[in-house]
Amino acid sequence: MNTKKEDILLDHDYDGIRELDNDLPPWWLYLFYFTVAFSVVYMVHYHISNTGPSQAEEFMMEMNPENVAGSSFGYRSPYYKSTDSGPKSAAAIIAEASRAEADGMASDIEALPELEVLTDAASLENGKAIYTANCFVCHGINGEGTIGPNFTDQYWIHGGNINDLVRTINVGVIAKGMIPWDKTLTPEQIHNVASYILSLQGTNPPNGKAPEGELYTGL
Ligand code: HEC
Repeated sequence: MNTKKEDILLDHDYDGIRELDNDLPPWWLYLFYFTVAFSVVYMVHYHISNTGPSQAEEFMMEMNPENVAGSSFGYRSPYYKSTDSGPKSAAAIIAEASRAEADGMASDIEALPELEVLTDAASLENGKAIYTANCFVCHGINGEGTIGPNFTDQYWIHGGNINDLVRTINVGVIAKGMIPWDKTLTPEQIHNVASYILSLQGTNPPNGKAPEGELYTGL
């Protein structure tokens, strides 16, 4: 545009500072028109025809687990995380029940079915690795017992079946220095290490600690 400075000079004067009435730059103007059009579309979509969920509705959908399968808008938040990761493993069920019991909440741990003692090479290898990384300082590299009890005899302080071991490992015996492991190890890792410990039965390592607890012959 060919405007003369005099034509667009506004007539106020602040200490010698004067103002020109320039046209708005086209990029700015088109951006402005775009936002106006966008606001109309937004308003119609979210507030008039209600074809999209409002922020409040989105929040409700995210908080409500019943909406996992979709809402009235056929919409599922991309941030929704399902807490249901499929059926729980038996080891996870025992771990939860042990924790509930240790925290003083009712638990029917005695009524739960007995876990399988794993004997396959992969699980025992895994159990051994967990044992050597976390347990041997107190229970001996061969399970012969040092600070903690001997795992190679048939005597157990807290019960000698697989569920008892899994429970003791999960919740520990804090007063006696046995750490609860349910914060560090997964239920499956605990199942593996418990099975590994049971595989040490009768191995009779040197320097075995004297038996503690009660004889358990159920294995
Ligand atoms: C800081 C030492 C320490 C560490 C580390 C430790 N334990 Fe223990 N653990 C003990 C003590 C002490 C006891 C005996 C508790 C008691 O007298 O009631 C025990 C008891 C146990 C028992 C019960 C034994 C019984 O006779 O009933 C099992 C099973 C066990 N620990 C497994 C583990 C496993 C598996 C790990 C590694 C993931 C581990 N412990 C790591 C100190 C430890």
